[in-house]
Amino acid sequence: MGDLKTTYLGLALDNPFMMGSCGLTKTVDGVQRAADAGAGAIVLKSLFEEEIRLDFAGTTDAFAGYPHPEAAAYLDADIAAHYGPEKYLRLVEDASKAVSVPVIASVNCVSAATWTTFAEQLEAAGAAAIELNIYQLPLDASLSAAAVEEVYLETVRAVRTRVKIPVAVKVVPEITNLVRFSLALQDAGANGLVLFNRFFHPDIDIQTEEMSGGLVLSRPDDYRQAMRWIGVLHGRSSGSLCASTGVHNGETAARMLLVGADAVQIVSAVYSQGRTVFRQMKSELRSWMDQKGYEHISDFHGKLSRFRLGDPEAYTRAQYIKAFVGAE
Ligand SMILES: Cc1cc2nc3c(=O)[nH]c(=O)nc-3n(C[C@H](O)[C@H](O)[C@H](O)COP(=O)(O)O)c2cc1C
Repeated sequence: MGDLKTTYLGLALDNPFMMGSCGLTKTVDGVQRAADAGAGAIVLKSLFEEEIRLDFAGTTDAFAGYPHPEAAAYLDADIAAHYGPEKYLRLVEDASKAVSVPVIASVNCVSAATWTTFAEQLEAAGAAAIELNIYQLPLDASLSAAAVEEVYLETVRAVRTRVKIPVAVKVVPEITNLVRFSLALQDAGANGLVLFNRFFHPDIDIQTEEMSGGLVLSRPDDYRQAMRWIGVLHGRSSGSLCASTGVHNGETAARMLLVGADAVQIVSAVYSQGRTVFRQMKSELRSWMDQKGYEHISDFHGKLSRFRLGDPEAYTRAQYIKAFVGAE
């Protein structure tokens, strides 16, 4: 039977199927259930930078000059009811003690502002690693792509100086040159990348002609963008690569490992099919490995990356060509 052990961010994982950051990992009970279901590691629900800054500054300072004091009070109450750094540190500590698999803290941040000292507290609370979920929607026409990217790099540098534990960056696909950027993130101190974050995109109800909620969960065929970019990045740097988006079965996990992912994160499949997907995916991956005669993940890890294949056209092709896809 195939051995599923892998290494991600220098952490030894029993298997590559991680529970990704989401509402199911915001309590110790949720973490425990994911571990019991067989997850190889667990990423906690993100704590938002605003919550940390609010805690450090106090409401008065955080909202100094804010035009609507009642709105500040509302935000304060809302955020305190939601999480707060103190609660989050307790979650990190209790969850890390409750399970034997690595528990990774996650911070959703938009800058390298004062919050980064909190990274030290996450480390002290027992986080095995920190995943930085850095993103701001660049709507300001005066901001260059380089300026947007610099925010990511500054944040990683600031966190790196604070902690010794591994730091992963969860990136978005909307980066002009992801290959160059991934190397810059590594120089800034990132130990690995998670590809990709999947943000909520609004939709429109054409009857009411109003903006409405869009699809929240991914679908099983949403994996290709992450797969292509992991395949492009594998072998270009020494950092870890983790797939996130569209991993709904063991076959897709095999694809991600074949192009060079060290681990995969699962969220939508757990929401739609329940936590039993961990066992199911492990069994599917093992069956495929048995069929192929692979004993260890290292036997096929990165076998189909662009680097290993020697820059095949499959990775560079972006246009539809009849011979390849049957349509033009
Ligand atoms: C309900 C829900 C909540 C999420 N919350 C977070 C979060 O707090 N932090 C984060 O980095 N990603 C969050 N995500 C994104 C997931 O971690 C993951 O990157 C994304 O859903 C793509 O993976 P999937 O195709 O397996 O769902 C959330 C996703 C969902 C569906």
